Amino acid sequence: MGIIHVFDHPLIQHKLSILREETTGVKEFRSLISEIAMLMCYEATRDLPTEEVIIKTPVAEAKVRRLAGKKLAIVPILRAGLGMVDGMLALIPSAKVGHIGLYRDPETLEPVEYYCKMPTDIAERDVIIVDPMLATGGSAVAACEFMKNKYGCRSVKLMCIIAAPEGIDAVHRAHPDVDIYVAAEDECLNDHGYIVPGLGDAGDRIFGTK
Ligand code: PRP
Ligand code: URA
Repeated sequence: MGIIHVFDHPLIQHKLSILREETTGVKEFRSLISEIAMLMCYEATRDLPTEEVIIKTPVAEAKVRRLAGKKLAIVPILRAGLGMVDGMLALIPSAKVGHIGLYRDPETLEPVEYYCKMPTDIAERDVIIVDPMLATGGSAVAACEFMKNKYGCRSVKLMCIIAAPEGIDAVHRAHPDVDIYVAAEDECLNDHGYIVPGLGDAGDRIFGTK
């Protein structure tokens, strides 16, 4: 069964508290999403393998550790996932970025695909799917399915800022091999599929569309 990691780092929790406030404007919201994504990325990459290499400093030879193993790909779920990409690239500038365009049908809450573009070597990379909100889990389950079945990825992680218990269960049931990283697990979903207390519509708040 996949693992759920909830990051309770004080900086993440502080920034999240401001993110949730209804009075937080677009500019600050966008910056906070990016900063939280960067801090979460730092925590979620603790298990990346390293290898020992010998280098020369200006003074002497030194045994140092560098990242080893497979390269990373960040895959934002459009639109809101885009807000997390810059923060992650600040830490992993050489990561490639694939995009999955999904929106929730407002009636059925089912995900509908409208765009998909991946790096050519995506199957060889460790994939981190990013989306600020994990609500019913429909979008994340579909995104994991694309990455594994359509693109042949063998290592997929999911990073969301706020998750509802329903979404976590859905991803764990459909994809027991996918670990989930979140900054908060909230109480529930409301009748419109919004996370309670949540932060409202992440895409609209990032892009100022409402
Ligand atoms: C939001 C959010 C997730 C999805 C979560 O996107 O960014 O992708 O809903 O809901 P789910 O877990 O029930 O699938 P939305 O469909 O509002 O699209 P947007 O990012 O374009 O605003
Ligand atoms: N998508 C959002 O943007 N917010 C929610 O609370 C649920 C889905």
